[in-house]
Amino acid sequence: MTKKFYITTPIYYVNDVPHIGHAYTTIAADVLARYRRLQGYEVFFLTGTDEHGQKIQAAAQAKGEQPIELAQRMSRHFSQLWERLGISNDDFIRTTQTRHIEAVQTLFKTLYDKGDIYLGVYEDWYCVPDETFWTESQLGEDKKCPECGRPTVRIKEENYFFRLSRYQQPLLDYIEANPDFILPRSRRNEVLSFIRGGLRDLSITRQYNVVQWGIPVPPEVEPATDNRQPVTHTIYVWLDALTNYLTAAGYPNDNERLQKFWPADVHLMSKDILRFHAVYWPAFLLSAGLPLPKKVVVHGWWTVEGRKMSKSLGNAIDPHSLIDLYGVDALRYFLLREAPFGGDGDFSQRALIDRINRDLANDLGNLLQRTLSMVNKYYQGVIPSPGAELPTDTVLSGTAGRILAETDGLLNELAFGKQLINIWELINQANRYIAEQEPWTLFKNANLERLSRVLYSILEVLKITVILIYPFMPTTAEEIWRQLGIKDSPADQTLEFVWGGLKPGARINQGRALFKKIEG
Ligand code: ME8
Repeated sequence: MTKKFYITTPIYYVNDVPHIGHAYTTIAADVLARYRRLQGYEVFFLTGTDEHGQKIQAAAQAKGEQPIELAQRMSRHFSQLWERLGISNDDFIRTTQTRHIEAVQTLFKTLYDKGDIYLGVYEDWYCVPDETFWTESQLGEDKKCPECGRPTVRIKEENYFFRLSRYQQPLLDYIEANPDFILPRSRRNEVLSFIRGGLRDLSITRQYNVVQWGIPVPPEVEPATDNRQPVTHTIYVWLDALTNYLTAAGYPNDNERLQKFWPADVHLMSKDILRFHAVYWPAFLLSAGLPLPKKVVVHGWWTVEGRKMSKSLGNAIDPHSLIDLYGVDALRYFLLREAPFGGDGDFSQRALIDRINRDLANDLGNLLQRTLSMVNKYYQGVIPSPGAELPTDTVLSGTAGRILAETDGLLNELAFGKQLINIWELINQANRYIAEQEPWTLFKNANLERLSRVLYSILEVLKITVILIYPFMPTTAEEIWRQLGIKDSPADQTLEFVWGGLKPGARINQGRALFKKIEG
């Protein structure tokens, strides 16, 4: 039976258009999804949009439109960007879809039937932009949100509560028994100390008279009493949003699908929303008697030239403008190469241009260009039958073998930057090999036995490079593949790779330069 791999990104808020922070998470998930497909997994890769709640209600009001109109428009911005970025998601969930509303109401009812939901009064603070409840003691004098620094508001509402306190010990036990549940480890320690600090029951609804833009508490729990006001409570947007991971896996109606895909293998996100995924979500699932996700993986935070990206600072980077200027694969490469996974990354145009010029145009682009030009010039565009391999040649196959062997470990840790450094070590070794072997001198001296081996070895490096870079830069990989004259797609290859698979006699197709140097 083929193994499955279910990976998710957060579902993004539709109050605004996507920026490179959102693009980063989604590209990272895409790399992993593509990589697992190469390994032969049946992959389910989910992304989507989070469309309910006070934040969206307020954003729509500020723009003078209905929340659903704003949601439609913004959701399309996200899906169009993912299409442009070559994201290979298998589904795109929107929390306003009927399938999701049904899932959320079913989960709410399940927790209620379990005895984990009760009616109480919430009187404390709320951060609308983060959709987060805060207690008085968690806030400083200025009553700013400890997470985002924006002002919170005081609310007093009769709300339904979830007995989170009941799950304090089970959660600690689970996290302690599963050291890889929260990655990286430093994040796991933060979560453990948060839980050890004591879990209070969580408000999981909002009063309808304050937040109408949400999924109603199911009628089995709260029968309608008044025709003008169909419900008195809507479900808290985080309980709504987290449930998307179950909805797309078939909950509550498609049990066969749910059995197959749930639990998710990886929930990917940044540190801002870890608590929701590593504390509240597992607690809801424990209450519902459903298995917990296998891994909650946290990546770093992008700043722009040293500053937090935000609308008010006007420095949020629009991925479309970067794609227009530099192309999709350059952006994908840069984002994953530049930030050590788990650590923070700083975005600057200078750094992006340097990477394009050096790594992409020079190291990789020139390697392909020079090699294919030599095959054209010395062998009329036909891959030569290679002469004997000498010890000086095996260094390339040795490095390629080592990098292939390290790939799985690195990608399991989401160490994308390290994987790209490894791949570029192979590329640059091939560049040095050309300089040392001087194919032009071999040609001049009519040493064709040696020349054929040297060119063949470099072509092999290029072929292996294609497989290795495919998850990161699918379009570039396809293009190199085409120029090498190989018919099928890199997506159809497997990672059980053999050195020496290129067919002598095949005709290459030298084409355009892969990346143009950027001036300035
Ligand atoms: O929190 N650097 O949605 P959101 C890195 N709807 N990643 C960033 C980033 C940055 N500067 N800015 C955003 C929500 N991200 C909820 C999620 S899930 C059930 C509900 C990425 O639109 C990162 O993945 O605010 C972060 O966790 C996510 O976008 C937050 O997206």
